[in-house]
Amino acid sequence: MGDVGKFNISQYDSEEMNENSGKGCSLYKVEMDDNSYVFKKRNPLERIYKNLRWAGFWLESTPYKEHKFIERAAEKGIAPKLKEKYKNGILMEYLEETKNLRDIYREDVLNDETDFGYLRKAVDVLKQAHDLNIRHGDAAIGNFIKKDDQVYLVDYEYSADLPKKSKRRTRNIAKDLFFLISSTKNNKAAKEVIYDEINSQYPSDISNKLAKYEKNPIFKIISKFIY
Ligand SMILES: Nc1ncnc2c1ncn2[C@@H]1O[C@H](COP(=O)(O)OP(=O)(O)O)[C@@H](O)[C@H]1O
Ligand SMILES: [Mg+2]
Repeated sequence: MGDVGKFNISQYDSEEMNENSGKGCSLYKVEMDDNSYVFKKRNPLERIYKNLRWAGFWLESTPYKEHKFIERAAEKGIAPKLKEKYKNGILMEYLEETKNLRDIYREDVLNDETDFGYLRKAVDVLKQAHDLNIRHGDAAIGNFIKKDDQVYLVDYEYSADLPKKSKRRTRNIAKDLFFLISSTKNNKAAKEVIYDEINSQYPSDISNKLAKYEKNPIFKIISKFIY
């Protein structure tokens, strides 16, 4: 931890954080001029591995444009505000007292109506991102964070503009939803809530595509790697 005048930088390495963030990035909490920020630094080498891992799934490369997509999402209030962008990282608003939905889920409290409400909100936030033409690319529950009653979407490292052509667009949206569903690790009740919300928010071609993905044996294997 370093302390330089008005700056204070510390590794954002609570237990939660270590478990949740993959090794592709390091996160730091930065205190500066009475504001708190999160500095997310990307490890380009790790990214090659991660890219390979997802390449077969997305079948397209995603140049690192996290700043572009987080900024677009933040304008609509569904992501932390971007403060500064760098070649291999971003500085963003620190959302205090937040928990990601995966942690809530892990604590096994996603069982009552309030908690399922967060899952509904996650679908709603993802839908808003899609309406902003953002394909998230890693929309697992660990990338949804809740603060007070609001749910935000973070981690735009694998984001890209949604394709315009309707078939590819449908596929991309359905894949994002597939990530969300897979990350519930087959909790039946959670899955039902998410499906219910998807059916009320998205047109039927999207949910049909999603249902196909869920039956596909290759996608079934992929789903085991989504947390
Ligand atoms: N701006 C933020 N404010 C508070 N917590 C954050 C913020 N950004 C990320 N986090 C927390 O850090 C975790 C890891 O960040 P994320 O961007 O998902 O990095 P990674 O690519 O390593 O998964 C998130 O799951 C979330 O819990
Ligand atoms: Mg993440």
